[in-house]
Amino acid sequence: SGSLSVAELAEKLRKESAEIIKKLMGMGVMATKNEELDVTTIQLLCEDFGVEVEEEEIVDVLDMDLYEEEDAPADLGVRPPVVTIMGHVDHGKTTLLDAIRKTKVTDTEAGGITQHIGAYQVEENGKKVTFLDTPGHAAFTTMRARGAQVTDITILVVAADDGVMPQTVEALNHAKAAEVPIIVAVNKMDKENANPDRVMQELTEHQLVPEAWGGETIFVNVSAVKGEGIDELLEMILLVSEVEEFKANPDKRAQGTVVEAELDKGRGPVATLLVQNGTMNVGDPIVVGNTFGRIRAMVNDLGRRVKTAGPSTPVEITGLSDVPQAGDQFLVFEDEKKARQVGEGRQARAKEAERKQSSKVSLDDLFNQI
Ligand code: GTP
Ligand code: MG
Repeated sequence: SGSLSVAELAEKLRKESAEIIKKLMGMGVMATKNEELDVTTIQLLCEDFGVEVEEEEIVDVLDMDLYEEEDAPADLGVRPPVVTIMGHVDHGKTTLLDAIRKTKVTDTEAGGITQHIGAYQVEENGKKVTFLDTPGHAAFTTMRARGAQVTDITILVVAADDGVMPQTVEALNHAKAAEVPIIVAVNKMDKENANPDRVMQELTEHQLVPEAWGGETIFVNVSAVKGEGIDELLEMILLVSEVEEFKANPDKRAQGTVVEAELDKGRGPVATLLVQNGTMNVGDPIVVGNTFGRIRAMVNDLGRRVKTAGPSTPVEITGLSDVPQAGDQFLVFEDEKKARQVGEGRQARAKEAERKQSSKVSLDDLFNQI
């Protein structure tokens, strides 16, 4: 949770730290300049100085992660599922993603130019599905470690000629821990030595019991190379989505997660964002992790410029002051000044945390040398 030091609050209120310390003493709190203050104390101090601050504003200023507006059920609408593909090395994750995209993205104007974007959307029977094209494990681990849950459904790819391997087990454990529904894609069915029964057998040992055997796990046989079974796989994804009912509120300021980001020579910081709730617009002031800006341009997975992006939509944006990290959360703000204030605050706190960490390390080193 967030906090501000006495000195930081003094700066925000345009007061001297000493004045704050004096007020705190009056409240029976002995504090130094570096003392971290909690929300309640900050609110009391602000009131004392005659500065009106709304609870929500304080939370925004302190820590964006705390910002969570409850959506009224009536405001929620169905959103596309966000699907991640995971599995053992060489079992065909990338080939499968390519096959899905090739079969489903029939955009003539884009002329088959593959835009590199870490996420894309396809349509099946008029319904959209979002795929995250980040290396499955890395995405899961870093994003989960940062408290961001982006995946709604996991496709566990297992090569029919190889069977369950260590990373298969690792992947299914990740998905189970995150309580994400799993659909098994038994791949490489075109191979002569393909043995889907063996895959079912081995996964049953990990509590993924196929429907065909009286269990609850959906298994789909596919060949990514031949493009076989892709339609069925997508249908199963839509089936699971209907059961799970993934929802979001499209009528509010956007929030979501960074899928990937880099520094582009010409365009500056470029980030692929997945909108998880709300709708994002060109021109929106935004805080992304420890950086901020105003959205200059948005490009969708087909390389087209778009003006808005609703829930479960991946878009590449420009206009940030710095490069965020994959897994960072973002939030759109009403005005740019506030976005800057929050962004700079977060930047300062991140630097401070880093400084504290490094000074702690050197102290440890010092003691170790004695
Ligand atoms: P990593 O990203 O390294 O973990 O691998 P991956 O899971 O993305 O596998 P990738 O898609 O790179 O495929 C690995 C190899 O398997 C490639 O040579 C593919 O051509 C081949 N392959 C993938 N799917 C199929 C399939 O359905 N049939 C056959 N015969 N080969 C396949
Ligand atoms: Mg791959």
